[in-house]
Amino acid sequence: MSTAASPGVPTDPTDPTAVLSPARASGRGEAPWWRGAVVYQVYIRSFADAFPAAGDGIGDLAGITERLPHLVDLGVDALWITPFYTSPQHDHGYDVADYTDVDPLFGDLAAFDAMLGRAHELDLRVIVDLVPNHTSSEHPWFQAALASPPGSPERARYLFRDGKGPDGAEPPNNWESIFGGPAWTRVPDPSSGSGRGGQWYLHLFDTSQPDLDWRNPEVGDMFEDVLRFWLDRGVDGFRVDVAHGLFKEASLRDQRRPRKTKEASSMVERTLTDEPMWDQPEVHEVYRRWRRILDSYPGERMAVAEAWTQTAESMARFIRPDELHQAFNFGWLGTEWSAPAFAEVVVGSLAAVAEADSAPTWVLSNHDVVRHPTRYGGGPVGLARGRAATLAMLALPGSAYLYQGEELGLEQVDVPPEARQDPSWFRTGKPGRDGCRVPIPWSGQAPTYGFGAGTTQPWIPQPTDWSDVTVTAETGDEGSTLSFYRRALAARRTVLAGADEATRARADGDVLVIERAGITVVLNAGAEAVPLPGGEVLISSDRVSETLPPDTAAWVRPATGR
Ligand code: NOJ
Repeated sequence: MSTAASPGVPTDPTDPTAVLSPARASGRGEAPWWRGAVVYQVYIRSFADAFPAAGDGIGDLAGITERLPHLVDLGVDALWITPFYTSPQHDHGYDVADYTDVDPLFGDLAAFDAMLGRAHELDLRVIVDLVPNHTSSEHPWFQAALASPPGSPERARYLFRDGKGPDGAEPPNNWESIFGGPAWTRVPDPSSGSGRGGQWYLHLFDTSQPDLDWRNPEVGDMFEDVLRFWLDRGVDGFRVDVAHGLFKEASLRDQRRPRKTKEASSMVERTLTDEPMWDQPEVHEVYRRWRRILDSYPGERMAVAEAWTQTAESMARFIRPDELHQAFNFGWLGTEWSAPAFAEVVVGSLAAVAEADSAPTWVLSNHDVVRHPTRYGGGPVGLARGRAATLAMLALPGSAYLYQGEELGLEQVDVPPEARQDPSWFRTGKPGRDGCRVPIPWSGQAPTYGFGAGTTQPWIPQPTDWSDVTVTAETGDEGSTLSFYRRALAARRTVLAGADEATRARADGDVLVIERAGITVVLNAGAEAVPLPGGEVLISSDRVSETLPPDTAAWVRPATGR
């Protein structure tokens, strides 16, 4: 681990720049493939529907296989596929009933093998999703738990507890589900024969997603078998769902109200939330065991944690040298359009991962959040900002995760209430996440835009004005977002190939300035055009002249740096 005086850690915390250890290389080469990879997230239900041939409006494994050339043309290194396992689909696959089989909606194990084989032939790595925090309520373990009495070994794989109050009619604690409402549901007592109220089980998400008890060794053993099953089939890595959630504080105590309290440290004052359900220290031992399994396979297998931690420092604990390889860094994704805010995220992230002797990841969109052009204001301004943020992100060391459809400049869709399917919509009445999950438009003038056979709307209806944002329409149009993404990824491969990771970042007024590998990246988050640094403009997110217009970014090789 680095010390305060070693390279890689800012020596003056008030200096708004950061330097990451220059010892590492990025991209393919001496560093492992994942360290500087660009990974494309495939949300399987919405990527491409090729199975069955008549089309059922839901994307599948055969659809991915057919569309892999798009990823090659785009220039990514790997794809991450959201869950395709046997599942009742209450949370669209994040409710798994069988971790080692494919849901018939998406194909079968042979279709998976065909997809993986084709991806490898095309030099694309494949990351699959692992959902260890909870199973589906239809998983045989949970069904057995429901049929078994309190205190039984079947119940001990989950978090069943007696309720509070005279009849046990109140939940065991005050935790809330991420999808709204209480995090506990009461089940009938199997011995009463009358459906009388029995124990409660914990579900931090939907009622159909009971949380496992990771203090029970049976649970860890089961997941080690699952890891080996997919590693034996040849996957290159895992994206670990809710990686910070597996362990809860053992007492299952109430969450303190008010939940947020200010924590003053020597450098900053920050507001932290009391979270007895997240980010418990015991979880790290699980990842140490998984790391040993991953390392026992040839070919640089990896895992990336989805850990919504409260600070960059706690995120970095998941990627210590003997734990997972990467953790999603959601800092930028949660940041408003502002150069100082972007600089703070970049500097904080670089410093935190340097402490763990690891490399960062960057992400602007995924299947759980509002698409970034919409977050940045929508319309032409939102799209320009989205492209600018992407270009700045792609210059940074570490790996970048792209979400399907962002390469087309897709915006969040306002899905009509009758078509919404997100469990959080049903539990809260708030729009939820369907708007970023609308199936991809590939070609043509009307739904389904080549997503599947025929013209029947897919599982979430597509807008009728998407004919200009299909892959076909944007291909060959130099000004399109797709052409821009292809150029940006090509620039990353050529300009940054083999570059070390030493990086400085700061805000100069409303301009984010990043310096890496002899290039200067500038992003204008202000309202006025600003002078461009002198030198050769290698790529820009929109047209530039001697000045950098608002909402635009560019990579410049300074004249002196040649
Ligand atoms: C995070 C996944 O990204 C999200 O889609 C899912 O609903 C939750 N984890 C629960 O598995």
